[in-house]
Parts: sequence; C-alpha cells; structure tokens
Amino acid sequence: MTNKKLVGITGLGMYVPKKVLTNQDLEKMVDTSDEWITSRTGIEKRRIAQPGTPSSALAAKAAKKALESAKLKPEDIELIIVATITPDMPFPSTACFVQSKIGAKNAACFDIGAACSGFIYGLVTARHFIDSGMYKNALVIGVEVLTSATDYTDRNTCVLFGDGAGAAVLQPVTSGGILSHYLGADGDLANLLYLPGGGSRNPASKDTLKNRLHYIKMSGTEVFKSAVRLMTDAATHAVCDAHLGCKDISLLIPHQANIRIINSVRKRIGLPEDKVYLNVAKYGNVSAASTIIALCEAVKEKRIKKGDIVVLVAFGAGFTWGSIVLKW
Ligand code: ACO
Repeated sequence: MTNKKLVGITGLGMYVPKKVLTNQDLEKMVDTSDEWITSRTGIEKRRIAQPGTPSSALAAKAAKKALESAKLKPEDIELIIVATITPDMPFPSTACFVQSKIGAKNAACFDIGAACSGFIYGLVTARHFIDSGMYKNALVIGVEVLTSATDYTDRNTCVLFGDGAGAAVLQPVTSGGILSHYLGADGDLANLLYLPGGGSRNPASKDTLKNRLHYIKMSGTEVFKSAVRLMTDAATHAVCDAHLGCKDISLLIPHQANIRIINSVRKRIGLPEDKVYLNVAKYGNVSAASTIIALCEAVKEKRIKKGDIVVLVAFGAGFTWGSIVLKW
C-alpha cells in the first residue's frame, strides 16, 4: 500500500442565472403541457442564461464563491478542471477562460468531456493529482449553458435542460474526504445521446445548420433505462469499494435528470426518500453542473453534517457514469 493522502472538498460555490423558464413558458413554445413535463420528469422550471453568455462567466462566479468558502486566494489554485459539454468554444479550454476571469494565474487548466458524469470524472481526476503530491489546491467546476445547445422546436428535449454552474475546492484533509470512486463508459452507445454538428465529423456548414445538427439529440427511453441501471451499479460499486453498505449512506446526491430515474435508482439501492437529495424541479437537467449544484444546496440547507456518508452518482452521454463516496 502507498501512503495515500486523504483528499476532501474544502470549499463550495454555485451560480445559476436569474432568468427562469417555466413549464408554462414552454407550453407557448412547443406542443407540451405542464402536466406532461411534471409527471414524466419532475421538472417545473429551469434557469436560463442570457443568449451569448459563455459557460466561463457562470463558472467564474461559482469558482469565486468556492474560493471564498475555502479561504483561498485565486493565486493559491494550482489546477482548474472544468467539466462541460457546452464549452465557450472548442479551444482554448473553458478552464483557461475561467483562470483568466478569476486571476488564478498559477493554475494548470483543462476541460473534461464526460457529459452529465463530468463533475464526478473531474473530482476523481483532481483527487489523483492531490493524492500523488503534485498539487495541494485544485478547483473542479461543473458548468453548462445547455440553452445554447437545445433545440426549442423539439419537445422531446427542450423541456429537460437548464443552465448553471457549481465549483468545489479540493485539498488534502486530515480526516474524512473521498473514500472511494467508480467510473465507467460505453462508447458503443454514443448515438443515443449526442450533439452531431460542429465537430470534425460534421464541421459547421449550411447543411449542418439546416438539419439542426448543432442541437442535442436523444433517444429518451433508451437513455432512461440505461441511466437507472448504470447509476444503480455505479453507486453500489463505489459504496462497496469504501467497505460500506447502502444502509450507511446518509445522503445520495444523484444527477438531476428526471425524478422517475432518481426514484427508480433509490428503490433499487433500497434508500428511503429522505436520504435522496432533489432539486430537479427547480433546475431541470444541468448536465455536468447538476451534482455539484445539488451538493452546494444540500450543504446550504444543512442536509449534510460532519461525519455523514455522502454519495454522488451520475450518468450521461458517452455513455459515461460515475460515483464518488465522501465522508463529510
Ligand atoms: N410534451 C408532450 N409530449 C411529449 C413530450 C413533451 N415535452 N416529449 C415527448 N412527448 C411524447 C412523445 O412524442 C411520445 O408520444 P407518442 O407516444 O405519440 O409517440 C410520448 O410523449 C411518450 O414519449 P416517451 O419518449 O416514451 O416518453 P418517456 O416517458 O420516455 O419520457 C423523457 C421522455 C422524459 C425524455 C424520458 O425518456 C427521459 O427522462 N429520458 C432520460 C433523459 C436523461 O436522463 N438524460 C440524461 C442525460 S442528458 C446528458 O447527458 C446531456
């Protein structure tokens, strides 16, 4: 066994745009109803950024709050990882834009593309940089401006997504912290949830615009079934690797995509309702920002106390999935 360092979350921050898009608003845009959306997804509203707002703007606001709560200065940060599927642009990385916005001039910066699992992939990556002794202060951010990739003529997808950002500072800790993690992916299922246009496969052209290829495409039912199975597996594996049982979970913080997915995962894991954190009704699916926003709100609402076992679990395009077990 190596002398593994304990790594924990020592600062948190989140930011969501002020503007709210309700189900009633969507009723005026596509053939849908508040009743359909709430009963099928649990979503009542979502936050949306002003058109043209880059992800880095939301991320920087969340990052500044996380630094404040960790009592760190921007120059103390040695690593910035941004998880997003809506980067400011293909390059440079959104992490570099965030670095510039917050003045973290001593940080190495890169983005992670693991869709809704991206924040958990980011935490695991930062954990290893700290664990190895390479860095002491890392900032992991989940951010999305999904409204920029959402087709507001497609009722199958446009009711689901929202914008927001959350950030966590990771440092060595003397007790608690990350106990275990589990990551997975299946690229054979990439075509069930993807954004086909604008990359090297389909560079932007009149045709890609005409065919609306710059928007999220999703086979909802297939995604739903896989999400339930793979989030259950991921959480169970991570808990087991921490030498714990699901009964030891104080609070499960699942990716907030759909209340029915969350309830199915909860039942399979065998948890009562009060051990699962929910904010899907307020924000919809914020992809990589989902679990970190939920964690921030759970802490703010005092749903988590010192010594609690907190499990984050997510699933997203790729497919990717991941879970992390924290002792608070
Ligand atoms: N309003 C009204 N009717 C609708 C709407 C809508 N917004 N959307 C679809 N429908 C209709 C469909 O057209 C279909 O009609 P039909 O039977 O006449 O063909 C009917 O409702 C049922 O559609 P389904 O797709 O079978 O509905 P389902 O119960 O599966 O719910 C949903 C759809 C909510 C999208 C669900 O499948 C889901 O949540 N999937 C998972 C999404 C997800 O978790 N994504 C996570 C990853 S996101 C990321 O990584 C970026």
